[in-house]
Amino acid sequence: MLDKDFFTRLAQSALEQMPPEDRFSGEDAEVLLRHRDLLASLGEELVQAFYNALFAHPTTRAVFREGERPKREETLRTWWRRTLEGPFDLDYWAWQARVGLIHLRRGVTNPMMLGHAAFVARFVGERLAHVEEGRLAQAVSRLMATVSSLIAEGYKEVFVEAARSFTGQSRELLERTVTLALEGVSGRRG
Ligand code: HEM
Repeated sequence: MLDKDFFTRLAQSALEQMPPEDRFSGEDAEVLLRHRDLLASLGEELVQAFYNALFAHPTTRAVFREGERPKREETLRTWWRRTLEGPFDLDYWAWQARVGLIHLRRGVTNPMMLGHAAFVARFVGERLAHVEEGRLAQAVSRLMATVSSLIAEGYKEVFVEAARSFTGQSRELLERTVTLALEGVSGRRG
């Protein structure tokens, strides 16, 4: 079920749904790759700050096993390095969807993932705000917004797929059930 096609379709669909203003673009890719050495030079500081924040908060710290941190640092280092190589094609986005879902098996939640995707954008953006009149920071912000959209969509899709195969119900019926559950819910405050 969660084969290569699943992740490619997932990436395609999430990218199509994103407003172009928010989605990582070809121009963003050019800016990012033009400054890949500068971005790479932030890698070590980023990795340390990323895990310091996760280890300082009991809820996220609890995800990790004893002595696991060096291994996790290495996976983030590799992720950053690989990201800065480009290209930002469907394979890259399908990989991000897969990376997002891998976290589910360790109980990493969307609030943790999406919060920390924004952390990466903020960390880099603050340090490179001056580059190309802010265009590099914007590119990184759209990169992480796109990664976030893949994480959220992957989460939803894997639950729909699991519910579909477990209950034997169609996707349409499952979606109608959600709509029904939301009847009467209002967006008004209070
Ligand atoms: C946007 C944010 C994040 C990125 C880009 C990221 C990236 C990665 C990557 C590339 C891997 C290796 C996947 C593989 O096996 O190939 C990984 C694994 C892992 N990450 Fe993250 N991560 C993020 C957020 C988090 C957060 C918030 C936590 C914990 C609260 C976390 C905990 C873990 C754990 C425990 C693994 C090992 C998963 C396993 O092998 O089962 N990550 N991460």
